[in-house]
Amino acid sequence: MFLSGLLASSLFSTWLTLSAHSLPSSSAKRQTFPTLTQSQISVFRPFTLFASAAYCNPSVTRTWTCGANCDANPGFQPIASGGNDGTIQFWYVGFDPTLNTVIVAHQGTDSKNLIADWSDLDFPMEHLDETLFPGLPSSIQVHTGFADAHARTATQILSAVQTVLSQHNTQQVVITGHSLGAVLSLLDAVYLPLHLPSTVSIRTVGYGLPRVGNKDFANYVDAHVSLTHITNKHDPFPVLPFQFLGFRHPSGEVHIDQNNNWVQCPGQENGSTECIDGAVPEFYDGTAEDHEGPYDGIIMGLGEC
Ligand SMILES: *[C@@H]1O[C@H](CO)[C@@H](O)[C@H](O)[C@H]1NC(C)=O
Repeated sequence: MFLSGLLASSLFSTWLTLSAHSLPSSSAKRQTFPTLTQSQISVFRPFTLFASAAYCNPSVTRTWTCGANCDANPGFQPIASGGNDGTIQFWYVGFDPTLNTVIVAHQGTDSKNLIADWSDLDFPMEHLDETLFPGLPSSIQVHTGFADAHARTATQILSAVQTVLSQHNTQQVVITGHSLGAVLSLLDAVYLPLHLPSTVSIRTVGYGLPRVGNKDFANYVDAHVSLTHITNKHDPFPVLPFQFLGFRHPSGEVHIDQNNNWVQCPGQENGSTECIDGAVPEFYDGTAEDHEGPYDGIIMGLGEC
């Protein structure tokens, strides 16, 4: 029964469209990339709400009583949640019957905390842990702090995903999060397939994703992960850690421009002003509040929980 339901199939067709990279050839000076239609944008809405709900305490995501963000995805069946308010970002895993999909969501960090956490702008990289990521080429390196944060929840999330897959007739998983939550989602998107049957298809939607690893990591993600990472206006955090330190984004950027068009950015790190690198040429010229959104009207972490 997988791929059933209008929403599920439009989700998949959006991904196909996004990965096609068909660009109009134009002699105009300004590069014009394709934009998403309103109905393609609306495909992301449930995941935006799931990512926002991940800011709520595990006690209310476990019962799906987190307020507006939970109410907007009615019918969601949480199976596990965790995290604390300090060293471990909140997370939850469950089943969405409307989308017929397992959902994994990770809490992020708001822009004020990011500035505090990253004020020294020191970004060491390391290999991914052999036990969690068996068989990955040793040339792949990721930010040490991100890898450590991911390792704190990895096995719990894997076991919750296996439980949901065993209880429901689905082979689809969507992983989502904002900011640091988008980082953890991307690392889960690399980690989970190494431990799940190859019949399971995994999609990842990240909001305000910072750079996670080096070029070999980005290339691995391009080859193995279905990723859409949505960047908003002049959000400075997706341009951290800096490229000159060796960090590189994978493909799959969708950039929300000043007119709220969702622009499909081709390739890794397209420098056009239509995409985040060109929109925020210098980190300190960015607008920190753009990190929180709005993403299709939704401000991340906002809600009565
Ligand atoms: C962005 O991508 C397009 C299409 O691949 C390419 O032609 C263009 O040179 C890129 N622009 C920049 C500034 O990287």
